[in-house]
Amino acid sequence: MKLNYKINNKNHKIIFCPDREGLKITNKKKSYTTIAKDLLKNYNDRKVLLIVDKNIDKKIISYLIHDLEISFKNLEVIRISGSKKNKDTKLLFKIIDFLIEKKFTKKSVIISCGGGVIGDVCGLASSLYLRGLIHYHIPTTMTAIIDSCIGGKTGINYKGIINSIGNYYHTDRVYISRNIINLIPEREYIAGIPEILKCGLISNKKIISMLLEQDKILKRDFKFISELIKLSLQTKIKFFLKDIMELNKRLNLNFGHTFAHAIEMSLKTKNIEKIRHGEAVGIGLLCEIFYKEGKKENFNLVKNILNMYGLPTDINSHIKKMNKAKIKKNIFEYIFLDKKRIGTYPRYIELIKIGKSKISEMKNFGKIRDTIKKIVIT
Ligand SMILES: NC(=O)c1ccc[n+]([C@@H]2O[C@H](COP(=O)([O-])OP(=O)(O)OC[C@H]3O[C@@H](n4cnc5c(N)ncnc54)[C@H](O)[C@@H]3O)[C@@H](O)[C@H]2O)c1
Repeated sequence: MKLNYKINNKNHKIIFCPDREGLKITNKKKSYTTIAKDLLKNYNDRKVLLIVDKNIDKKIISYLIHDLEISFKNLEVIRISGSKKNKDTKLLFKIIDFLIEKKFTKKSVIISCGGGVIGDVCGLASSLYLRGLIHYHIPTTMTAIIDSCIGGKTGINYKGIINSIGNYYHTDRVYISRNIINLIPEREYIAGIPEILKCGLISNKKIISMLLEQDKILKRDFKFISELIKLSLQTKIKFFLKDIMELNKRLNLNFGHTFAHAIEMSLKTKNIEKIRHGEAVGIGLLCEIFYKEGKKENFNLVKNILNMYGLPTDINSHIKKMNKAKIKKNIFEYIFLDKKRIGTYPRYIELIKIGKSKISEMKNFGKIRDTIKKIVIT
């Protein structure tokens, strides 16, 4: 299965790889992964740098390196931890220095294999070195698979500001692999559901009905999940192609994120069980629906789906011994730090009906407080 889209007349592809041969390393003389076969077929100078997140399952790393080395004897590899503290100038220049030292050209290739951190830094390095070389990406977290692997946003954190240095540079190819999905830890895997649900709510009813087929999702049925990922990525493509620079339409993809970011920031303190980004998005969806229309049909639908997957619908269990009033106050204040805000009021996404949404402002501060009190911390 493939998904194609064009930006400035250039083709970009997302390729779903069933990896039927598994992760067994054999004595084959030819590469068998789709990415290696594509690299042999496509235009490039055969110089390849693989930048891989060393926290992913070792079997995947060995398999990928072995397979690429069959065809690319001089494959270069950088192993790096995809933790957020590495999303910085140090890693960016480590990659660029390496490309200079190894005399990579504009026709050389960077393959990034990791989550959003590795993808964002490698995307930036790919765009900057000689004003752009070829970038292929293998996403390894659900956030990366459903969201960050496309859309072109690259970045590093600098001077304490998230993504303060970055640009738009679209990955040439993205490879979604069954082997990788099968080995994603369970909680991380489930935390991907709210971002998929978000795509269903703002754009495509079919996604919602597929999410109700819990068995196939929990069993990680690749054919079924691929379809769900494809529909979610199509939603993202639909919004960002109309608004690459994120000035209006694309903001619909932030449904749930105004509250989610505030929740994540308020739980950053030590000694609190960390909430996953996707889990916070789930609660954020409930908040933004509640802000607009209270607990009606859409609210119940979202809550039921979150419950079906055991996802949190509030943060009560995260803050057992904490000062609730203080956390509520922090969440309220963080909502106003929303980086997508342009005027006095924080923005949010208003769900008009399933499949249709619009960008709106939260002008009623009492209602924001009420949403925090009735949904986030009850
Ligand atoms: N470019 C975009 O459009 C976009 C969109 C959303 C988020 N982001 C960025 O993505 C980053 C967050 O990305 P993320 O949520 O993918 O997390 P991540 O890249 O920070 O990875 C989280 C942790 O999981 C580990 N990991 C990665 N793959 C794994 C696997 N298969 N098995 C086990 N461990 C694995 C990583 O080493 C890291 O420790 C943020 O920096 C955010 O700004 C970018």
